[in-house]
Amino acid sequence: MLEIRDLHVNYGAISALHGISLKVEQGKIVTLIGANGAGKTTTLRAISGLVKPRSGVINFENHAIAGLPAHAIVGRGLAQSPEGRMVFANLTVLENLRMGAYLRKGQENFAKDLDYVFCIFPRLKEREWQAAGTLSGGEQQMLAIGRALMSKPKLLMLDEPSLGIAPLLVKTIFEKIVEINQELGLTILLVEQNANLALKVSHYGYVLETGRIILEDTSTALRENKEVRAAYLGG
Ligand SMILES: Nc1ncnc2c1ncn2[C@@H]1O[C@H](COP(=O)(O)OP(=O)(O)OP(=O)(O)O)[C@@H](O)[C@H]1O
Ligand SMILES: [Mg+2]
Repeated sequence: MLEIRDLHVNYGAISALHGISLKVEQGKIVTLIGANGAGKTTTLRAISGLVKPRSGVINFENHAIAGLPAHAIVGRGLAQSPEGRMVFANLTVLENLRMGAYLRKGQENFAKDLDYVFCIFPRLKEREWQAAGTLSGGEQQMLAIGRALMSKPKLLMLDEPSLGIAPLLVKTIFEKIVEINQELGLTILLVEQNANLALKVSHYGYVLETGRIILEDTSTALRENKEVRAAYLGG
């Protein structure tokens, strides 16, 4: 579904990605793990069209999307739940979810999709009229995922859904990620520093280190890999 070949991204003189290649198969959860500054967010931003690659190929459903404007990429069915959540603080939960549906062609299934999001995250239903800025961190994360789902994506990209959230809510959110993948058959590209969790829920994984992919394998194999255990899973 998604294929990246030899992708290079620079921020001015700083090179953030030095030629990464990866694939995401339809229906799978694929994870990209790596430490602070490895280039995880940059990879997602390049796919979403929020940064322009210096060179390389990004194909989505066999169409070249590298360098297209972000709205055109969302329109093709790629949605991102950004790092740090970035909900619209002064808008209500419902208004935030409406924003997610903004670029959709047909609005006819809006109510049905809203029901699905509320069914996955009942807390959002309870807080439908509350300003998003007053939600807890974990609830804002649910809202960011719900908002991305409202654009009816074919591929959902999640940037560190566990970041800064209480362990109990992290568990809930990861269960929901699996549920969304299984029930909707939605393909997910998951970026995480929490390698342990990410490798538990995903099918396949890539390890990113300072802008390069140093290892890839099934998530089961990565969890048993000695180097991965020592560097990312606490031994
Ligand atoms: N707008 C920017 N301008 C300059 N350098 C940047 C910019 N954004 C990111 N970088 C640099 O690019 C590198 C990769 O950053 P990126 O945000 O992709 O890392 P990350 O893997 O998502 O890290 P984290 O886990 O901390 O979120 C870092 O060295 C960072 O300092
Ligand atoms: Mg990041």
